[in-house]
Amino acid sequence: MGINFLSFGSALPQGTVTNDDLSRMVETNDEWIYTRTGIKQRRVAVTESTVSLGTEAAKKAIEKAGIDKDEIDLVVCATITPDTNFPSTAGMVRQAIGLRDIPALDVFGTACAGFIYAVSVAQGLMATGGYKTALVIGAETLSKITDWTDRSSCILFGDGAGAAILGSGEGRGIISYHLDGINDVDGYLLCRLPSSDSPFYKGEKVDYTKMQMNGNKVFTFGITSVINGVRQMLAASGLTADDISWIVPHQANRRIIASAAHRLGIPEEKFYVNIDHVGNTSSASIPIALDEMTDKGLIKKGDKIIMVGFGGGLSAGSLLVEM
Ligand code: ACO
Repeated sequence: MGINFLSFGSALPQGTVTNDDLSRMVETNDEWIYTRTGIKQRRVAVTESTVSLGTEAAKKAIEKAGIDKDEIDLVVCATITPDTNFPSTAGMVRQAIGLRDIPALDVFGTACAGFIYAVSVAQGLMATGGYKTALVIGAETLSKITDWTDRSSCILFGDGAGAAILGSGEGRGIISYHLDGINDVDGYLLCRLPSSDSPFYKGEKVDYTKMQMNGNKVFTFGITSVINGVRQMLAASGLTADDISWIVPHQANRRIIASAAHRLGIPEEKFYVNIDHVGNTSSASIPIALDEMTDKGLIKKGDKIIMVGFGGGLSAGSLLVEM
């Protein structure tokens, strides 16, 4: 018995912002953005919300799994851009789809490693709590926390959602996973909430509530995380890189992926990259990539896939699965 990925689904908002569009907002240009990041365009919410994107991705995943929605008995959603403090995004998606009254919870704050964390939480609950089928989502509207006047960060991010159905049954499924947490003492990746406006509060005043990032530090952290994640999964399973069909890294910067591939001595072609048309969608990036790969027929039964996420927290996570 294993815990298997039965399907994927994804949703992108209707807005498209090209590098040329950004060059009319901040001092940048298509050539700089594309050569430094691999991004050509990103999708941004116009009327969509984190819940609406998560709901659309989840509905597609349910349809592709060919299951009845009443079979789902757990929802876990990773996000750093919820629409509400509560209910949880997972709970709002549960209601929007009309699922049964089942547990639904968010994994908040683990940013671009969020999907790996959410799958690990779902897997743990399935292994010990008797849940047989889980809906796992990564959903983001990063456009609402992006500083659109900061050229070093606004070029990177996009909105979107990805979802997966996990089911326990025959097959090896998830072989191994590893989660890392690193103290971000220097604030390499940070997005603060507004400080309290309680009449009793006398502490620090926070009014800048957009994403802040030390690009160079995160760049290095990203390369190290991909390298460590792949090595951890190979060491835990006794497999070699030749046994792995695909590595699906978080889509942060094409140069991070290329550098990690080079240092690992693994051909870059083994790393799935779709950053050119979606940008960095944080917790949604890995399931969006997996859904695209499935639609293109790139994933076959028995394929072994390593997923690696890294981001704010600082957090990183890797997962090895046999499809
Ligand atoms: N257009 C033109 N020039 C720019 C731009 C821009 N958009 N942004 C920065 N520059 C300039 C800088 O000002 C600098 O100029 P200077 O040399 O005159 O000072 C020069 O380009 C080089 O800047 P660097 O920051 O060194 O550029 P770098 O090659 O490192 O690329 C980038 C910056 C793209 C941000 C890169 O560091 C990166 O991708 N980092 C990783 C970010 C990431 O992965 N974040 C994900 C986590 S997000 C999360 O968890 C929610």
